[in-house]
Amino acid sequence: SVEQRVAALLQQMTLEEKVGQLVQYSGRELTGPASNRKTDLLNSIREGRVGSMLNVKGVADTRAIQAEALKSRLHIPLLFGLDVIHGYQTVFPVPLGEAASWDLAAIRLSAHVAAREAAASGIHWTFAPMVDVGRDPRWGRVMEGAGEDTYLGSQIARARVLGFQGEQLGSTDAIMACAKHFAAYGAAIAGRDYNAVDMSEQQLWETYLPPFKAAADAGVATFMNSFNTLNGVPATASAHLQRDILKGQWNYPGFVVSDWGSIREMVPWGYAPSVVEAAQAAMTAGNDMDMENDAYGPHLAQLVQSGQVPAAQVDDAVRRILRKKFELGLFDDPYKFSDLKREKQVLRDPSHRQAAREVARKSMVLLKNENHALPLGPQQRTIALIGPLAKAKRDLAGSWTVMADTTQIVSPWDGLTERAGKKARVLYARGAEVTGTSRAGFEQAVATARQADVVVLCLGETWDMTGEAKSRADISLPGAQQELFAALKATGKPVVVVLMAGRPLIFNTIAEQADAILYAWFPGSEGGHALADVLYGDYNPAGKLPSTFPRSVGQLPLSYQQYNTGRPVTNPKNITYRSAYIDELNTPRYAFGHGLSYTSFRYADLQLSQPTMRATDKVQVQFRLTNTGPVAGEEVMQLYLRDLVSSVVRPVKELKDFRKVLLGPGQSQIISFTIDQDKLAFYNAQLQRVAEPGEFQLMIGSSSDDIRLESKLVLAP
Ligand code: IFM
Repeated sequence: SVEQRVAALLQQMTLEEKVGQLVQYSGRELTGPASNRKTDLLNSIREGRVGSMLNVKGVADTRAIQAEALKSRLHIPLLFGLDVIHGYQTVFPVPLGEAASWDLAAIRLSAHVAAREAAASGIHWTFAPMVDVGRDPRWGRVMEGAGEDTYLGSQIARARVLGFQGEQLGSTDAIMACAKHFAAYGAAIAGRDYNAVDMSEQQLWETYLPPFKAAADAGVATFMNSFNTLNGVPATASAHLQRDILKGQWNYPGFVVSDWGSIREMVPWGYAPSVVEAAQAAMTAGNDMDMENDAYGPHLAQLVQSGQVPAAQVDDAVRRILRKKFELGLFDDPYKFSDLKREKQVLRDPSHRQAAREVARKSMVLLKNENHALPLGPQQRTIALIGPLAKAKRDLAGSWTVMADTTQIVSPWDGLTERAGKKARVLYARGAEVTGTSRAGFEQAVATARQADVVVLCLGETWDMTGEAKSRADISLPGAQQELFAALKATGKPVVVVLMAGRPLIFNTIAEQADAILYAWFPGSEGGHALADVLYGDYNPAGKLPSTFPRSVGQLPLSYQQYNTGRPVTNPKNITYRSAYIDELNTPRYAFGHGLSYTSFRYADLQLSQPTMRATDKVQVQFRLTNTGPVAGEEVMQLYLRDLVSSVVRPVKELKDFRKVLLGPGQSQIISFTIDQDKLAFYNAQLQRVAEPGEFQLMIGSSSDDIRLESKLVLAP
């Protein structure tokens, strides 16, 4: 068995070889600050002093480096890890965009395709999914997550893990996943990357840990800890997180890798006097692998010899890592994932492009659509495609696309001109840049708009404005883009705005005045095709926001999971001594769960199998959904609950379930949800998860701010 093979190997290993298994270095490409490593890397690999590499990719390179590892005394193969975040060569929408699909099968498919390509290209392990809940879009990394909600985030965490890993590790179209960043990184103060996190233990358990637990339950092979401190302790040094919760309470069998440099960063944090103490703190806290710290390699053996780190902890860490190498089948065939023929075949598989198009169109959110500005049709004979992103390719990929073939990206121009064919003329003007204040292009853009029946205006961020180390203090649509919009709007032509970005942006003028707004995120390789599908109504948009869109930066962090407070605003015109801003509304620009369709839906006939339940009961909630509009469409129905009175105050709404269905025009379907005790439970002041008897408000909506059906539900004592 794997366990016996691990034990037999461990017995033969010297302390130095054990430490070697815990060390990971980067290839030439850097995804963090340059390393301080003094030693010759290839030599270290040959001596068995390295257990894993990141940022080495492709069959040729992984084979060459693996060959060096096999020259080591015990011939232990290396693990190759890489940030395969939203696709590999075929780029899918950024994860936040995918989350807007609320389509778990689509999300799983995206992860599967990414894994298939990566696994054909020498990769064993992705540093994904990022399952951090993010409620502050100033933080650039919201792009990589599933948004602000714990329930939705947990479902998506599971889907992504299953997508990457398949049924079982060892298959050549699956790779190991990694739930990151453990934990609470999404709550970095003021949305500034790498910043401290301070939060109650209750908030941690209630909001930030469940997606990690969902990933662990789905069998995620690895965890990555985090750059942030949590209540004063660097996550990498947190025994509370890694030993007590993860490896203790959750009995997690996989291994934990540090983030890039997060061990040695304990020194500038002021937590460890030198990297030696940092290495000791990390190992004793349960951090198994050292990613680019040069902390374990030079210091861990000595720390064990001097008794500062228990040898048993090192053995446990090594066992966890070796187990994965065995499960992947690397001891039987170290080149299992490095097959030139398979690499060529798989990377060319046309079904991957089709999947990317499918997922991209599912991720787009129709925020606004006045007077049926969309979909476009035969009446629009001339279309003015304007904007700095109208012909963009690279930007559509977003960040974390180390292997993307950016020459193969379908731009909005490519997609729209292909779809318009001979039926419509598509004119183009750039108009403005994404950043910068120049209005030099406005005149030509306005002249172009005047010749057209409709303006399609492609605005947003450049690909490198969101992602790691891309926090923004001002998340307004950058540059002169809103002014460009205003100039075009002044022509009197209908203006359809397509926004491409990795985070929620603020664009109040556009929100108020545009005829239609489609939020396309960074949609990936097939972005232009997907966009044309949606703009023309070949696909009816069904995306719903996984994150609240604020009106002002001053509202951040902002989530639909607000508290009522003791002084709620009941009349926005009278906020004296109320919980409000004197210069801004409390409400978001677009709420969590918002997203329009080209059709309309009626929610009716709500029924509960019983109005009062006991702890062991399951209540069936049913209603009828009808497509009341002219075309087929999908709707995402959202079930929210509120605990009206409880020992710990609960938010005014919490998502507890959702369904997505496709209905033809006039068609209807009975939808049902089940409510059990777990859906009513929360962490009380003693950190026990309890469902307290009393009244609950049950809400079913098309969005968190568009509740269509309501009822009371009572949990009996
Ligand atoms: O996986 C990433 C992590 O999310 C942030 N720091 C670098 C790692 C490896 O590239």
